[in-house]
Amino acid sequence: MAEVSTRDAARPASGPPPGPPETFYPRPFELSGLRRGAVNVRDLGEDVQVVVVHDRDALRIFREICPHMGGPLSEAAVGSDGTLECPWHGYRFRLATGQLVDNPNVRIMDELRRRAPECFRPDEAPRYALAALSYQVVGDLVYVERKRSRP
Ligand code: FES
Repeated sequence: MAEVSTRDAARPASGPPPGPPETFYPRPFELSGLRRGAVNVRDLGEDVQVVVVHDRDALRIFREICPHMGGPLSEAAVGSDGTLECPWHGYRFRLATGQLVDNPNVRIMDELRRRAPECFRPDEAPRYALAALSYQVVGDLVYVERKRSRP
């Protein structure tokens, strides 16, 4: 299970953000407090929680809610293949891009698809993806921007 830092929730932001305050969520978090290769949960203020994965040299920051059906990504698993797996239905998303790379339901539904192909559209592109948030690091503080980053 992911670690929720109550220390971050109680700690006031120290220092001004590296740009217009309206660009960033109000509460930065400490870079040095992140566990590498694991899901870290941080509260950015304004009732916004994110999951942060320190993946190689970059941070991957996503809203805590799975885009499929709202599963808790705070309980997701980081795969050695650079993916994040939601605990509810096992969807796996690529950390670097947020793209859906595996939906176990596809395999589960194979038999039904074979029996009633008119009910399924296997060629349809997956609709689900994680939207990574941009950030800036100032010293040991990570300021998360309200806008999404581009992979
Ligand atoms: S809610 Fe995350 S995979 Fe379904």
